[in-house]
This record gives sequence, structure tokens and C-alpha cells, in this order.
Amino acid sequence: MEQGEKTFFITTPIYYPSDKLHVGHSYTTVAADALARFKRLMGFDVRFLTGTDEHGQKIQRSAEAAGKTPQLFVDEVVSWIKKLWATLDISYNDFIRTTEPRHKKAVQYIFNKLFEQGDIYKGHYEGWYCTPCEAFWTARQVNEGNCPDCGRPVELVAEEGYFFRMSKYADKLLQHIEENPDFIQPSSRKNEMINNFLRPGLEDLCISRSTFDWGIPIPFAPDNVIYVWLDALSNYITALGYSSDDETLFNRYWPADVHLMAKEIIRFHTIYWPIFLMALGIPLPKQVFGHGWLIMKEGKMSKSRGNVIDPMRLIDRYGSDSLRYFLLREIPFGADGVFNNESMLQRINTDLANDLGNLLSRTITMVERYFGGIIPAPEAAEEPVDRELRETALSTPARLEELMSKLQFSGALEALWTLVRRSNKYIDENMPWSLAKDEEKKGRLGSVLYNLCESLRFISVLLLPFMPRTPGRIWAQLGVESSSELQSWESLTSWGLLKPGTRAERREDLFPRLDIEKELKILLEGKATPENENRKEEEKEKGHTKTKDAQEKDTGEKAAENIISIDEFSRVEIRVGQIISAEPVPKTDKLLLLKVNVGEEEPRQIVAGIAKFYSAEELPGKKALFVVNLQPVKLRGVLSEGMILAAVSPDGKLALTAVDRDLPPGSKIS
Ligand code: ME8
Repeated sequence: MEQGEKTFFITTPIYYPSDKLHVGHSYTTVAADALARFKRLMGFDVRFLTGTDEHGQKIQRSAEAAGKTPQLFVDEVVSWIKKLWATLDISYNDFIRTTEPRHKKAVQYIFNKLFEQGDIYKGHYEGWYCTPCEAFWTARQVNEGNCPDCGRPVELVAEEGYFFRMSKYADKLLQHIEENPDFIQPSSRKNEMINNFLRPGLEDLCISRSTFDWGIPIPFAPDNVIYVWLDALSNYITALGYSSDDETLFNRYWPADVHLMAKEIIRFHTIYWPIFLMALGIPLPKQVFGHGWLIMKEGKMSKSRGNVIDPMRLIDRYGSDSLRYFLLREIPFGADGVFNNESMLQRINTDLANDLGNLLSRTITMVERYFGGIIPAPEAAEEPVDRELRETALSTPARLEELMSKLQFSGALEALWTLVRRSNKYIDENMPWSLAKDEEKKGRLGSVLYNLCESLRFISVLLLPFMPRTPGRIWAQLGVESSSELQSWESLTSWGLLKPGTRAERREDLFPRLDIEKELKILLEGKATPENENRKEEEKEKGHTKTKDAQEKDTGEKAAENIISIDEFSRVEIRVGQIISAEPVPKTDKLLLLKVNVGEEEPRQIVAGIAKFYSAEELPGKKALFVVNLQPVKLRGVLSEGMILAAVSPDGKLALTAVDRDLPPGSKIS
């Protein structure tokens, strides 16, 4: 180890290979990967461990049901899991399988040691067992014949067993938890462990099974296999070579900085695991973090409930970076969150296509248009908006560092998007397309575009841990060469490192906009019938005009719900727009396709349902008000990127809205 080099050891649970993993498993693994990559970016020597938990009654039964030997059964699933992690760009350093000799040998060593020092004794177990959770329960804990964790029926087992003296270590553990507030996170989980498990008193734990044989045999009593949780938890140290001929990794990386998992297995990690470690005389992990569940409407996403979402399917359609972004951004880490296809598609359109994708495409398009694709040099003089952008960019890394140290992935991405949005706003404030009209302002135009490119460089570097594929695509357009020092964490301490004169090149859109309704249908595997398509088109064309029933509801007892706050209102961006051209949309007598200048470098294409009230010829040159941050939508197959505002009288007349003084296109309504 280099002098002073910092290490960081992070783990996910090792997953049961009982079936294909679903998006819930990807959630933990993507989060762990983002943290591992973030620490690497900051210069830590990171070790990131994941793997599979392959023994136990549950696997044995699943293999029997599939008509396979357990080994064949797990081998097949494990190769699928590795493929999933490769597709999601999971940068683990080690993948441990509990059926590997390196693990089995070390677990047997651990069992022997605990037995020899008197922490394990032989007895007889009679009690309840939940096979899906592989958990022993006392009569007091069982809930009307069901497992208190997963709610499924428990089985009565009576067998010879070896017991671990849990109670011997209970006080020491309680003291450790109380003295180390970071040990169990979030802290609500800490109280649950103390009040529900530690304070009522720990009973000795049966740590062997003798009624099946798919496990690691106890060396001195081979008719018994070691309880799967003692086997599984040990992976965190056996993977580092604990008790092997070479303990270099163990000495370097243990204790773990964080064990990451969902809340249902926090009990095993904050009670059993630390007690086993104490008994072995090994320091405890620094933190055990139990995040929330991804839930569907019907409850926790799980195979047995049949409500799982296959991550491969989402990745195939939207790319792994989009799925990673959604998982990390949507739900505050720690809380439960509902997984919903529509929210995912909306995030892709809003945050990725509109905010990030547009920032890049607008910037590079303007560098090409106004400077022949060569990134211009900034002028020495700086305006307040430049300073504001620069300061936002320079303060973002520290903000992310702070949030990531608390595993607040969503907050970190939000902080990064503050810079993305600040940069988009900077374009609107400076209106480069206006500067370009005046030769004397060419220098200022150069500064504006340089600053945007440099801001994109900051954004791309900070994006790397969360969306590892996207930065390369940004660098290709910005002309930043691969493995350049401009991609390092250190490079984010100085503004202005991007070299003027670099050739930028507009390429494909980072995230093409999605037609949400179409995608939802595809995800639900529903078939698109012509009737459905027509009905939907009509609904869309009606736009925001509500049905009579709906209007009555709004004005009647529901009126109170129709009040919006000033914050809600301020989310709607309305601007003055000037119509450049208008033409009828084929096969309908209601719609006109407008090209509208709303103060951006390119006119917007907006479909308006006003053809019965205005002719295409009379519209060019007219100014009206437009909502410019609406979700884009296709009407009769034509993309509409906004909505014209019109007043409608009770007898059905329609008039466009206008402002009573002449204001330039792009002026905002506030
Ligand atoms: O428990 N939401 O393995 P497992 C969020 N082998 N996370 C979810 C989730 C959901 N709906 N479903 C699963 C085991 N997870 C043991 C672990 S560790 C020594 C042994 C994630 O395959 C989450 O991390 O049942 C949860 O803790 C883990 O998968 C459970 O995976």
C-alpha cells in the first residue's frame, strides 16, 4: 500500500440463486456500484464484493423441483447473474460463490475455532423454521403459524443441532451499537434492532442442520451441515482470504466500510454477524446500511408474489445507464419506493433527454454553427452569470461528496442536476443566438459557449459513478480524449482546464425522447390495436379540455382539490412565442403544425388544435403564449413540443392569448 492511501471495502448481500434476480436485487447492486465508483473517482483504493449464497434447504428444494442437482442448478443461475451484472456495468472486484473451496474451507475453520473455544455446544433443536428466509424463530416470535418477516408458513423442526452462545455477547453488542451511532444506518433501523431483538434478550442460536445435506459439512460431525446464515455471512471475510495462506487482502481491507442490503436482512447483519466476529476476535464492520424496498402496488417485489420486473428487459429497451439513473434518483435511499414504469419513462424524458441531452446538443450545435466546431477561448472579462455558473460547478463536487458519504444517491444526483439546470438557464440568460447576430459580440459568444462546454465537462466527470457509459459519449462530442486528466476528480478543482481549440462534434442524441404511452404499452406487452390508437389520439387532441363529468367534479365537491400552490404554478413555464409558419396536419381538420420561436436557438414544433378557428395563412408573425415545458407528445404521428394557450368561450369560440405590449419571443410569464 502506498503511504497514506485510503481503502474502501463495500459489499452487497450475496444473493440466493434460486431464480433470476429482479430489479430489487439490481437496486442494491447498482447503489453499491455507484458508491464504489464514486470512491474510486475520489482516489480511494476500493474493493467491491458481491456474490451468491448457494447452500441451504431452499436451494436444495428449488433444485429438486427443477429436476437438477443443486450444483448444476446454482451453476446455471450464477452465470445468468454474472451476465446481468455485466450488463449493468457492475464493477465488482470479486464475486464469491459459497460453493467455492476457498469459502468452504474458511467456514469450516471458523466453525472449528468457535467450537474449540467453547462458543458452540451440541444440543437438540425443536422449534420453528422459515425456509424461504432460512430463519429460526421462537414460538413467541411466530405470528399465527407464519414467519414474522415474510408472512409465509413456518415449519416445525426437531433435530440434533449445534448451538452458538449468543447471549454471552449480547451486552457487548448493545454497547457497541450505542457507542457507534453510524454502525446501523439509517438510525430508525437501529432502534428496531435494539427494541425488538436485543432488549428482550437473545436466545442461543442453532447453527447447524441435519435433515438435508446441501451445505458445508461440520468437519467433526459430517452428518450435519453448517447453518446457511453462518456460512453466508462469513463470505465477507472468506473472500478476503481470512484464515487462508494469504491474508493480504484481509489485512488490507477489513473491517468493511459498509455492508449494503435491504432492511429485511439487517437483523442477520447487525446481531448474528457482529457476534460471530466478536467471538472470532475480528473487528466489526464500520457500517451496516439497510435500504428500503422497491415495491409494486401489490407490495414488495419478490419472486413468490409474481410481481417482479426483469431488469434485462428494461436495459434492452432503455439502456443500463437509464435504469441506473432511475433507481438511484427516484427513491431517497433508505425509504421504500414504488417502482413504476411510467415514472421511469418520465424521468428518462425529463431529466435525461430534456435536461442533460438538450444541454449537450444545444451547446455542441452552437459550437458547430458559430465556431465551425472549434471550442472558442473565453474572454478575460467575466460577467456575474459566468461567475455564478463557475461557482455552482466548483462547489458541486464537495456537495456530492457530502451526500454520498451519507449514501444519499438521490440527493447527490439532484445536486448534480442543479448544475445541469443552471447551465441550461445560462443558455437562456445569454441567448447565444442573439449574440451571434452581432459581430462585435463574437467574443462574448465565445465565452458563453466555452463556459457551457466546461460545465459539461464537470457534469460528465461527476456523472461517471452513476451512469458509467454516458460520460464517454459526452466526451466524444466535447472532443475530450479518453483517459485524459480532464476526467479526474482533481480536475474539478479548477475551472477552465478544457482547452480552447478542441474540436467538438455533434453526434447522436444522448437520450432520444420516448413516446411514453407507446412504451407503456410495450412494457405491459399489450397489443396496439387500430381502435386503441384512434381513441388515444382523440383523447390527446382534446388536450386539457376536460369531459363534462370531470368539469362538474372539479367545480363541485372536488373544488378544493383543484387549488394549486404557487410552487405548483411556477413549475409551468409559459413564454411569449412568435409563430414562424403554420400548416395543416394531414388527415385531420382540427390540427395545425406550427413552427414557433420561443426564444431558443431553434424554433419549436408545436401542434395546435385551432384549425377550425384560424387559417394556416393568417398565423405566421402572430405572437401568442405557449407552455414550453410540457412533456412532448405525438399527435397524429407528429411531434409536439409544447402547447399554445387559447381562451374558449362558453359558446365554443376560441381566441389566442397575447400580451398587451410587444415583448420579444422567449419572454417568460411569471
Ligand atoms: O437475503 N427491494 O438473499 P436474497 C429492494 N442470501 N431490494 C431488494 C428487493 C426489493 N424488492 N428484493 C431483493 C438473501 N432485494 C441472502 C443474503 S448476505 C450474507 C445473504 C435485495 O437473494 C436487497 O439487498 O433474498 C435484499 O437485502 C437482498 O436483495 C436479498 O437477496
